[in-house]
Parts: sequence; C-alpha cells; structure tokens
Amino acid sequence: MTKKILLSGVKPTGRPHIGNYFGMMKQIVDMQDEYESFPFIPDYHALTSVQSADKMREDTINVVIDFLAIGLDPEKVNLFKQSDVPQVTELTWVFNCITKMPYLMRAHAFKDAEAKNKDINIGVFDYPILMAADILIQDTDVVPVGKDQIQHVEMARDIAEKFNKLFGETFKLPQSKLVSGLEVIPGTDGQKMSKSYGNTIELFAEDEEIHKAIMSIPTDSKEILDSKDPEECNVFALHKLFSTEDELGEIKKRYVEGGMGYKESKDILIKNIQDFITPLREKRKEIAKNPERVLEILKQGGEVARQRAEEKMKDVREKIGLI
Ligand code: ADP
Ligand code: TRP
Repeated sequence: MTKKILLSGVKPTGRPHIGNYFGMMKQIVDMQDEYESFPFIPDYHALTSVQSADKMREDTINVVIDFLAIGLDPEKVNLFKQSDVPQVTELTWVFNCITKMPYLMRAHAFKDAEAKNKDINIGVFDYPILMAADILIQDTDVVPVGKDQIQHVEMARDIAEKFNKLFGETFKLPQSKLVSGLEVIPGTDGQKMSKSYGNTIELFAEDEEIHKAIMSIPTDSKEILDSKDPEECNVFALHKLFSTEDELGEIKKRYVEGGMGYKESKDILIKNIQDFITPLREKRKEIAKNPERVLEILKQGGEVARQRAEEKMKDVREKIGLI
C-alpha cells in the first residue's frame, strides 16, 4: 500500500524551542514510519525576515542538525531545503495570478505584521501563497503544524480548489494535523512560547540555561502550605510536558492539598527538563561534527523533492496552457 504524504517546514530563523518541538517537530518524528515524509527548511520564507547570507547558511544547517538530533531518520524521510526545489517559486507565481488581494489580506500573519509595521515587504504578504505551493506541489495529505499555521493550511486548500475548478483536477486537498493538548505550548510567562516574545526554553539548552529560564517563571505569593490551583500555574503547565502520569498526579495532589512550594515544583521541573534535553544535546553535538554528511542528506532529500515537484509542474504548465 502506498503511504500518505506528510510535509511540514521549520524556518531557519534562530534556535528551536520546546514549543516548536512538542507543537510540531516531534510529530514529524513520530509519524515518519507511517507516512512518506517531507520535512523541510523553508529558506525562502525566512528571507522575508533574515537578510544576511551568513545567518541564513548557519541557521539552515542548524535546523537540519536539530531534526536529525531529535530522531528523524534520513533513510526514511526526505529532508530538504525549499530553495533546492525552484519549481515551488514557479508555482507561487501561478497561484499569485488566481488569488485575490482581499483574500490574502485576511491572513492573520499579514494583519499582525501590518499592525506592527506598515512597511512590510511583499514577501510577507505573499507568504501564504508560497506555503500553499510548498504543500500542494508534493501532493501532501497531512501537514503537522501548531495552531498558528492552521489558517495557512486552509488557504492552501482554498487555492487548490480554485485551481482545480479553473483548470481541472490537479491538486490534492491537504489537511492540517494538530496534537490535541499541545496546540499551544506556553512560554515562561504563560503566553504562547515564541521566539518573538523572549519567553522560550530552547530545545538544546545547556543545564544552566534551563535553570535560569525556569527560575524566571513568575508565580503568585502563596506559601508552601497553601492550596494552589495547578491550572493557574505556569510551572505546572510545563510539568505536563515533562512528567510521567504518576508523577504529574502526585504534583497535582500536593498543589491542591498544600505542601508543595513553587521552589520545589521548579526544582523538579528543572531536573526533568535537564534529563530530557541532555541526551538530545549530546546527540546534536555528535551530528554537528560531520557537516559534510549533513549537507549530503539535505542534497539527497532535495533531489527527491525536486523530481516530484518537476512532475507536478509539467502537469500544471500543460493545464494552464504553457505547453
Ligand atoms: P515562533 O513563534 O517561535 O517564531 P515558528 O513560527 O517558527 O515559532 O513556529 C514553527 C512551528 O512550531 C509552527 O508549526 C508552529 O505552529 C509551531 N509552534 C511554535 N510555537 C509553538 C507553541 N508555543 N506551541 C505549539 N506549537 C508551536
Ligand atoms: N509558515 C511555517 C511556519 O512559520 C513554515 C512553513 C513554510 C511551512 N512552508 C510550510 C509549514 C509548509 C508547513 C508546510 O512555521
């Protein structure tokens, strides 16, 4: 039986955090046996904000190493970078021509960017179209993403339907895939964990960095013996990710009954996060010692992705009358 296609991208824009990991990177690893998988690095998307060649190169290879360190198996998946598939930018133009401006103006990311800075580039505006091209060109069935990306996947569906209606059945309609309960991982301040809010715990953080991040979580002024509502506590929200069920039950009980202070709760959390991250960090360091192999993996994945994209584009060029 042929496997369904999974595709998702992580932009090369700095170090990943545990929100990225639990929200989507881990899903890709967990699904790599069941799906034919295309995890990729959307470097052209990053170009909307990263405009330094050194930073682009460094962050791109870093994301590949991150993916390998968390357990993506290059024998099973096609790990590639977007710019190795230039057919995607070709398809973006085609989609640009069948999409109306008012429709794109409804994109949350565009509205947020515009609210902050009126002087945004056209790439930011066109971002969802490039993403639709990434998804549709590979005949993707599922797109594992965090909550903030759902609208983009819906837009890809709309664009596929529009093209199919205008030119005949060509594109599959993709579905986004969220992990329930992990749609929005909170940061150290309780808001969504995000690089732009400065509230992250990096996925490959050193022990001291983990310590510092957890110690910075604000808590209320309740004493050790006071009863505490676990659902109101940002420390507890993170325990949910790093504790066994039994351990979590015990912490919850002690919060409610009183007897667990925030210091003790934080100490347990720090230890659990360190135990979780240490082996990943060590593996990452090993992989980083061999950048040639990392580049070779990226190159091979790119060849597979490019060939598939070229097949699809032949059909598209035919359908729109270029051939
Ligand atoms: P950031 O907000 O830190 O810039 P990105 O926008 O680069 O993160 O997100 C990369 C991927 O990780 C997306 O699929 C996004 O939905 C997911 N993601 C990011 N932050 C979180 C979070 N706090 N909880 C769940 N998923 C997240
Ligand atoms: N927009 C996504 C993000 O910010 C990255 C991305 C680009 C992507 N192309 C994609 C994700 C295609 C899934 C599928 O996280």
